Amino acid sequence: MTDARTRILVVDDDDGGRYLKAHILRKSGYAVVEAASGAAALEQCRDAEPDLVLLDVVLPDVSGVEICRQIKAAHAGVPVLQTSAAITTAHDRALSLVGGADAFLIEPIEPEELVATAKALLRMRAAEQALRRMNENLENAVAERTRELTDAYQRLEVEAAERRKAEEVLWHAQKLDAVGQLTGGIAHDFNNLLAVIVASLEMIHAALGNPQALGTPQAVVTPQAPGHPQALGNPQARGNPQEVMRSKMLRLVKTAQAATDRGAKLTRQLLAFARRSTLRPEVITIDEAIVACEPFLRRALGEAVTFRITFEPGLWPCRIDPVQFEAALLNLVVNARDAMPGGGDLEIATSNVTVGDAAPHRTTGLDAGDYVRLRLTDTGTGMDPDVATRAFEPFFTTKDVGKGTGLGLSQVYGFVKQSGGHVTIDTKPGCGTSFLIYLPRCEAVGCVSETYAGDMEIAPTGTETVLVVEDNADVRELARATISGLGYRVLEASSGPAALDLLKRDDGIDLLFSDVVLPLGMNGFELVHKARAMRSGLRALMTSGYANIQRPGTERPDVPLLLKPYRRDELAQRIRLALDRA
Ligand SMILES: Nc1ncnc2c1ncn2[C@@H]1O[C@H](COP(=O)(O)OP(=O)(O)OP(=O)(O)O)[C@@H](O)[C@H]1O
Ligand SMILES: [Mg+2]
Repeated sequence: MTDARTRILVVDDDDGGRYLKAHILRKSGYAVVEAASGAAALEQCRDAEPDLVLLDVVLPDVSGVEICRQIKAAHAGVPVLQTSAAITTAHDRALSLVGGADAFLIEPIEPEELVATAKALLRMRAAEQALRRMNENLENAVAERTRELTDAYQRLEVEAAERRKAEEVLWHAQKLDAVGQLTGGIAHDFNNLLAVIVASLEMIHAALGNPQALGTPQAVVTPQAPGHPQALGNPQARGNPQEVMRSKMLRLVKTAQAATDRGAKLTRQLLAFARRSTLRPEVITIDEAIVACEPFLRRALGEAVTFRITFEPGLWPCRIDPVQFEAALLNLVVNARDAMPGGGDLEIATSNVTVGDAAPHRTTGLDAGDYVRLRLTDTGTGMDPDVATRAFEPFFTTKDVGKGTGLGLSQVYGFVKQSGGHVTIDTKPGCGTSFLIYLPRCEAVGCVSETYAGDMEIAPTGTETVLVVEDNADVRELARATISGLGYRVLEASSGPAALDLLKRDDGIDLLFSDVVLPLGMNGFELVHKARAMRSGLRALMTSGYANIQRPGTERPDVPLLLKPYRRDELAQRIRLALDRA
């Protein structure tokens, strides 16, 4: 069926010819508009918007070929059927087609051929239009999809930013929580220790003023028969009130000392967690270290647990602090024991592992390289994910009050991290726990540890001159009293510059005993450098509670280090050793 809206423009200056063509087309159902000149044809093209132009080549004003060019320029998609009776050579027809016509018919034209050609050209135009529409639709669809994707991406970015913000808030809250727990834990433990120390000191103080303050020494008044509990103890003390008081005071002093020992252990564990321990690394193979402390670990485990150790032959050496390593091992073994109250199996296995760049090692956070791995597996209660995530936090414990401080795994974590390694937990409730510790392989051999003589029965003394440099007046006074009590002459300074001043004025100083952290912009290491520049070979002993801090650019001088808090005997030994050093 022909579309009634399909319009054909018939252009011919010959009225008869134009009428005939228009008539044939109208009869075929087309709407026809007519033009008798080139100018009229252009006007009709603009106004009537025909779907096809039938164009005679010979026109009175402009040639049909030129009009065809202009029509094509202004209305690109409109097909032009050129007709002519006058010009009929193949060359002329070709010229018309080259000029832009879509087909050429020689007049007189059979009505059937005219209609068929018009139809064919209109079909072509319809197909072209459909293709163009399809292209436009496709472009629109692509643009629409692009817009949707851009919107989705922007939404995602906004959501990601919101999530990041929420995570930051949560992280901050958790951090504050952890700091709060840490502070609370430290305060609680130190308060307990201080309570013991304060009470002991107060009782000693009171007893110095009034010996009765320590209670009536009953043993003096009513000596008990042998075998009675009251009769136990120093037989001399029983008869002598002064001796009884002395032994009571001694007990108080020992109680206070035990509390300070516990305090010192607590700070050591905290420093270990903060990775600020002063490590005394040695090159060792961990299987030897494990063998050395095996009996001790077995005792800690008790009878109910089966203990098995498997070593890989030819284990690589590591450069670690053996004392800290043993402490970590003991912490892990004690945890395993506590997780197996009814007994179970504990296995320790060592092996050499090489970590490559590929997963799964990447997830452990280890750099590529060679490591010695220690696996400690128990068949205990296991941990649920919440406990496992928090297990390394200082003061995190699931044990009853007084049963656990929550510092065991913190020490393990701090020690391993400070040694350049890594520790992970593999656990599930009811399925036991595996701790995996990676310690970096050490190529070098030999021992690099600071050594000092072990416990000596009697504190060594001397008469040399010691310059004590310490900014805290109480600590300085204690050091002065202790060192002069050992027989030495003691000079004091509260800062590096003051110490240098004294060194300039007094050339009898034999030993510089200085804190590492000092005020007035000169730390202990710098002080030693400067002092030795003035007096080469000056002997020195450093002390610190926080020995890993070292100013960038300050080279640590060759000087022994005494960790705070120190005991009188240890101080005496270290001073003697420092003075006697070649
Ligand atoms: N092998 C294990 N099996 C099951 N749970 C464990 C194991 N090791 C540690 N945990 C859990 O981790 C918590 C923290 O351990 P951590 O050693 O730091 O402290 P603690 O053992 O509670 O106290 P502390 O060691 O200071 O006496 C424990 O309370 C326990 O809940
Ligand atoms: Mg523990």
